[in-house]
Amino acid sequence: MNDAEQPKKVFVKTYGCQMNVYDTTRMEDILAGEGYVATATPEQADLVILNTCHIREKAVDKVYSEVGKMRVMKEERRAAGRDMVIAVAGCVAQAEGQEIVSRVKAVDLVFGPQTIQRLPRYLAQLEATGKPVVETEFPAEEKFAALSALNRPTSQVASFLTVQEGCDKFCSFCVVPYTRGAEVSRASEQVVQEARNLAASGVREVTLLGQNVNAYRHAGVSLAKLVDKLSQIHGLDRIRYMTSHPRDMSDDLIEAHASNDKLMPFLHLPVQSGSDRILKVMNRGHTAQTYLDLLAKLRSLRPDMAISGDFIVGFPGETEAEFEDTLNLVREVGYASAYSFKYSPRPGTPAAERKDQIDEDVMNDRLQRLQALLLQQQTAFNQSCVGRTLDVLIEKPGRNEGQMIGRSPYLQSVNLTLPSEARGAIVPVDIIAIGSNSLSGQYRGNLESLQRRPAA
Ligand code: 5AD
Ligand code: SF4
Repeated sequence: MNDAEQPKKVFVKTYGCQMNVYDTTRMEDILAGEGYVATATPEQADLVILNTCHIREKAVDKVYSEVGKMRVMKEERRAAGRDMVIAVAGCVAQAEGQEIVSRVKAVDLVFGPQTIQRLPRYLAQLEATGKPVVETEFPAEEKFAALSALNRPTSQVASFLTVQEGCDKFCSFCVVPYTRGAEVSRASEQVVQEARNLAASGVREVTLLGQNVNAYRHAGVSLAKLVDKLSQIHGLDRIRYMTSHPRDMSDDLIEAHASNDKLMPFLHLPVQSGSDRILKVMNRGHTAQTYLDLLAKLRSLRPDMAISGDFIVGFPGETEAEFEDTLNLVREVGYASAYSFKYSPRPGTPAAERKDQIDEDVMNDRLQRLQALLLQQQTAFNQSCVGRTLDVLIEKPGRNEGQMIGRSPYLQSVNLTLPSEARGAIVPVDIIAIGSNSLSGQYRGNLESLQRRPAA
């Protein structure tokens, strides 16, 4: 604990997925209990935490380049008689461990995503010994138990809430089982309590997070059941979840999209490839057809369901014909949005050992073709919303004076003219045009009747 007059400052830089965004909130929360305040820039920080991502090679390179910048900043601060603790957290920390402190001496703390709750202990140990602390254990249950339900007032109107971590699927390209460990779910009572706390401070939408969120199961409570419990919370009007695996897309969850109005009609369901041979070597445990069947079932129950996905092009051995299978699957699905990546070999994963790696030029060409098709589909989906009236959750001020940005049920950004007091309201908006990555709309209702939250 710091008893100097000035509170200590912490700067956290977050990379990668939403799970890291959530962990950053939790680290700031833990550090607030130790007298730290969060700062938006590293220059003034006593503690800098890089909350890192290991999913693709580029993500790791970015971290090492950032660590280099922090080292320079630390030296400058030291020259001025002040110190700076540099911590590397997240998945690069988990995967690289000791290697980081060996490579960059200025790094003081290295700890993986499962031990963020021990941060005060690491800081104390560093202060007592002056030696770097490296911790790469996997006690995920300890993390969930130690974190309890976050109960800090938030100014957000939409929030992430981690309910599950880790992955037992072992896709042959992916580091997650090695960096986040086995699948562990958080107790539903704790999740419900946290959601209640969030709703009480004005949050109207939660996105339940997990590497395999639809594999959530705790004491017999499935994700569908958890969604049902959360939908009973007054003031919490929208529920989303990500990221799901096709293998865990159970019937009760699919049916919840039809029966539960609070569950948004949007699903991020990565398929990675449209070729059954590639899916098999990826160890995905599903075929293109079983994926399509799932979506057909969903759409038969909830016709307006918008689908998003992840794709990898240039997986080792992928032929032109197999890549075209992916394009064909995309044509069949009609995605509302998607993420696509060139295959990136990750040390320690089975696919990285394969001899049939694909040329960079071929990968670039395939990525470009896939992205052109996905963009065309996203534009078509956005265009299909023009002329409709969508419920929009008003989230934050827009670029121009008097403008606000909100989210449609399908996770599209919507720009519209509204006073800032409308933040937190869910309002019907006429969609009038599409932008490059958003919609524009008009609210024709009565401004006076806008409420931030429904009366309790
Ligand atoms: N190379 C490229 N993309 C990858 N992803 C995961 N591992 C790799 C890799 N080795 C992508 C997948 C996953 C998303 C989070 O990142 O599409 O769904
Ligand atoms: Fe990146 Fe995966 Fe770690 Fe998220 S869990 S930060 S995507 S490596």
